[in-house]
Amino acid sequence: MMTDINLHIIGLGNLGQSFLNGFNNIDHGFNIYLYEENSQVVNNLNTTYEIQESINEIDDGVVLLCIKPNDLNSFINLTKSKISSGVLIASPIAGTTISHYENNFENKIIRLMPNLSISNNSGFIPFTKNYEEDYLGFISKLNLLGETHEYSEDLFDIITAIFGSGPAWYFELSSKITDSAVNLGMKKEDAKLIVQKLMLSLPSLVGNNDFDQVVNNIKSPNGTTEAGLNSLANDSFDKVIFNAIESAVNRSIEISKDTDDE
Ligand SMILES: NC(=O)c1ccc[n+]([C@@H]2O[C@H](COP(=O)([O-])OP(=O)(O)OC[C@H]3O[C@@H](n4cnc5c(N)ncnc54)[C@H](OP(=O)(O)O)[C@@H]3O)[C@@H](O)[C@H]2O)c1
Repeated sequence: MMTDINLHIIGLGNLGQSFLNGFNNIDHGFNIYLYEENSQVVNNLNTTYEIQESINEIDDGVVLLCIKPNDLNSFINLTKSKISSGVLIASPIAGTTISHYENNFENKIIRLMPNLSISNNSGFIPFTKNYEEDYLGFISKLNLLGETHEYSEDLFDIITAIFGSGPAWYFELSSKITDSAVNLGMKKEDAKLIVQKLMLSLPSLVGNNDFDQVVNNIKSPNGTTEAGLNSLANDSFDKVIFNAIESAVNRSIEISKDTDDE
């Protein structure tokens, strides 16, 4: 039987709220404490928890930092004397390295890169950490929000680009498919519903298949899919996607440098 841990979620924007929803769905194993400094965000939150503006002393448990990278250094300066060394610091903050925390804290650090799917406990949580074993059983608890998998930290800029930001690539594509259908004469509501149904049909196709194999299963010689795929190839779709992922990776590297230099 796992013991309850004190979990302090700092920042209740998109990701903080997704963690909160996921942990609330589990409803045991945690004492949750919430912190948010933006009163508008607090007013819009529908929760029975008390929300504090800033932290006092935190003596044990986990601090889960869901703030933007550019708020991190002022958070560290204001709080480093208030967080005891036994507290586990969990950071899903893009571009922020374990060594950045090690320069300021003696604590155990776990770096995570989930995406918003943790909100309904169907997530996947890549992580890397600077300690052995599962301190405080936190990884077992994260497993209840989604499967966890440890990666070497040098892969985190790529993981951030393909997984943390990943849902945005698919939703942007869906938005453009919807616009195309509208441009070709369909009503927006009809196009949106069909594209929503399309997205919901995708998980059943993922399986263990190679992605290219799924594409092959859909296209037939000289058919409609092949016509569209040829158009994508002519417009250098591979380059368009590579450039987007590379830009996100580069931004993650840049954030690491900016955060370290501040
Ligand atoms: N969104 C995603 O899908 C996703 C996925 C993976 C990782 N991440 C990472 O998660 C972090 C949060 O992203 P987000 O999209 O959730 O950002 P967000 O919506 O802007 O949420 C951050 C919230 O934290 C508040 N805040 C800032 N400093 C604080 C402090 N010291 N104490 C309490 N609250 C504070 C902010 O208030 P103000 O508005 O006043 O600044 C804001 O409401 C980022 O570092 C991002 O890299 C996000």
